[in-house]
Amino acid sequence: MTDMADMTTDPLGRGLSGRTAVVTGGAQGIGAAVVTRLCAEGCRVLVLDTSEEHGKAAVERWRDQGHEVHLAVADVADEHAVRDAFAALPPTWPAPTLLVNLAAGFVFKGLDATREDWRAALDPTLIGLSLVTREFAAGLPPDASGAAIVNMASISAHIAQSGYLTYNTGKAAVLGFTRCAAQELAPRGVRVNSVSPGTVWNAGNERYHREVLGLDRAAAEAAPEHGGRFLLGRFADPEEVAAPIAFLLSAEAAFITGTDLPVDGGYLAV
Ligand SMILES: NC(=O)c1ccc[n+]([C@@H]2O[C@H](COP(=O)([O-])OP(=O)(O)OC[C@H]3O[C@@H](n4cnc5c(N)ncnc54)[C@H](O)[C@@H]3O)[C@@H](O)[C@H]2O)c1
Repeated sequence: MTDMADMTTDPLGRGLSGRTAVVTGGAQGIGAAVVTRLCAEGCRVLVLDTSEEHGKAAVERWRDQGHEVHLAVADVADEHAVRDAFAALPPTWPAPTLLVNLAAGFVFKGLDATREDWRAALDPTLIGLSLVTREFAAGLPPDASGAAIVNMASISAHIAQSGYLTYNTGKAAVLGFTRCAAQELAPRGVRVNSVSPGTVWNAGNERYHREVLGLDRAAAEAAPEHGGRFLLGRFADPEEVAAPIAFLLSAEAAFITGTDLPVDGGYLAV
């Protein structure tokens, strides 16, 4: 904290206000909750997402609330699209010093996975993660101390789940990437961490539980094999993942790097 202005606008010294953040997969779900949270923290946000439909609708909502959010419709695994997305940032914005990598390949296959399945799983989750992180790191200001990255892992990164080989392998790779990127960027003062949520109640999970399992949220949370696997006996709301992500980005986490924070209602504890 350097002056009285900071004390007025940032009394807890979180250090997020006025900064530019990049959020991949920010058009909906957990990513949209992260964007909403970072806007509330006083950030400008570049949303990088393949969904023009969801992205445009969400950006319009944020702008109506007075926030500065820019949408780049881009696939994180497309090197040129990623470069163009960063290049298209409004010139008046400060260079991005916060990055949240959430875009992922939702492919759930076992050992029968084809080469195409593996590419669909790992291109966004791993290759996209690396391309976006590289572009972000290249654009950091010379004094990058205070810059921070949070990558999206999952409880699936830590456990085996039947039929999840492709997805869980990608998420486990996110943990390795996070540790190595933290080591590589530490000399520049950049911190890199990940979060590992359990089931987060978003549109996709609502649809899956209703259509495949025939369960609404209350019934799914009451079922021993679903909500019952979490010590807290329930699923998370997206905002409950966005808050720890904002914490890891903030100056309050200034001595935390190269690690993973489970946000899992106690799933991995037992
Ligand atoms: N929902 C859960 O229960 C849960 C639990 C643990 C981890 N996660 C992880 O959280 C992240 C967000 O998941 P969600 O459930 O909010 O998903 P979601 O489907 O609601 O949102 C994902 C967003 O990413 C975008 N996207 C997908 N592929 C992309 C690509 N190649 N390039 C750019 N954007 C792309 C989609 O358009 C979408 O807007 C993912 O990494 C997921 O693996 C989710």
